[in-house]
Amino acid sequence: MSKRLQLGMAGGGEGAFIGAVHRMAAALDGRFELCCGAFSRDADNCQATGTLLGLDAKRCYSSFEAMIESELLRGAEGDDDAMQCLSIVTPNHLHVPMALAAAHAGFAVMSDKPAGISLAEVEQLAEALAESGSAYGLTHTYLGYPMVWQARHIAAQASFGPVRKVMVEYSQGWLASQLEADGNRQAEWRVDPALAGPAGGLGDIGSHAHSLTEFVTNSRMNALCASLRSHYSGRTLDDDGEIRFTLENGGTGTLISSQICAGEENNLTIRVYGTNAGLEWRQMEPNSLIERRSNGEVLVHRAGIDKPLCEQALARCRLPSGHPEGYIEAFANLYRDFAAALADKVSPAARGVPGIAEALRGMAFLEAAIESDGAGGSWRDIKPPSAGADRRGLLA
Ligand SMILES: NC(=O)c1ccc[n+]([C@@H]2O[C@H](COP(=O)([O-])OP(=O)(O)OC[C@H]3O[C@@H](n4cnc5c(N)ncnc54)[C@H](O)[C@@H]3O)[C@@H](O)[C@H]2O)c1
Repeated sequence: MSKRLQLGMAGGGEGAFIGAVHRMAAALDGRFELCCGAFSRDADNCQATGTLLGLDAKRCYSSFEAMIESELLRGAEGDDDAMQCLSIVTPNHLHVPMALAAAHAGFAVMSDKPAGISLAEVEQLAEALAESGSAYGLTHTYLGYPMVWQARHIAAQASFGPVRKVMVEYSQGWLASQLEADGNRQAEWRVDPALAGPAGGLGDIGSHAHSLTEFVTNSRMNALCASLRSHYSGRTLDDDGEIRFTLENGGTGTLISSQICAGEENNLTIRVYGTNAGLEWRQMEPNSLIERRSNGEVLVHRAGIDKPLCEQALARCRLPSGHPEGYIEAFANLYRDFAAALADKVSPAARGVPGIAEALRGMAFLEAAIESDGAGGSWRDIKPPSAGADRRGLLA
């Protein structure tokens, strides 16, 4: 494909967090070009953001709806710089309405997680995508790391043995104090159920732990019991919780999702044990994957284009070993592979990008956890995605 894909963005105005990461990631491999945005509800912020990014002022839209309408017209008139793909980096409650509008208009969608605020609305989105044929990617960042792919590869080997136990944890400390009361923008909407949805920290970071578990074990989480809580009286959504779960392949595990672990940064860690060996990956040391074998051997698999890694892990390495392959590179791998899926006219999952199947399973997980917690921590089945096309996504 010679021309770069024209990318529009919803959210990501000045002062926002993840929008800038998406822009860097999309640009890294030269497959996308930012052409327009509705970066903020605040029109001045939107214009200021677009100016800094060198965009035409007319294509810094004061509303998302205006952007869709105008870019659709641009495309209909044959402008080859009209938006083709929309990146959604707003608070959660807007993810599905924006993705739906984009899908109806025929744009590809790259949405941040969680996919939405209810399973019902994500099911509606799945139907709309099936009808329109629009591609949909979900930026579960950690599935872009090479050593996560290597972990999945090792866990699938007969020598590893069936997966019996998973311990996954995503702990942060940034909500250990009541930051939302101090005007912290990222905290404000994350503790508001109308904007974040019914899952607080669990939707924010527990959703990553869920997707990582399913991806590395190549198995769907099918039942759970959850205990969730908030540590401040004015905070209605969970900021801390533990989940016990079972996997379709017979394994069991525990998942910790907490934003009140004072001093923690982004401690996403997964340990997976088969009958003959165990694996450990920590996102804060992403180049290393530790494998411990029953015979006492301990191997440290390292990222790098010069290392003996599986094909899928090597495809996600960019540098010789020893140079950290980090967060932006992992995000960029998702964008690069999403562009490849669009160019090849195949599903994002066929190029290793999480999509609507992961969106459905992620929302079903969140809803089961909230229901279980509300019922005193009793076991709940996680609703399997309804029948239809490509509901397994990245799972074999
Ligand atoms: N994949 C990851 O690792 C990761 C990391 C952080 C955040 N996220 C997700 O990204 C999303 C955004 O999080 P954030 O931390 O960047 O939030 P943020 O508050 O920093 O940014 C949100 C942006 O959306 C804009 N916005 C709000 N309403 C809008 C509207 N109607 N139209 C256009 N823009 C609007 C805000 O002005 C702001 O610019 C969330 O869904 C979050 O869960 C994902």
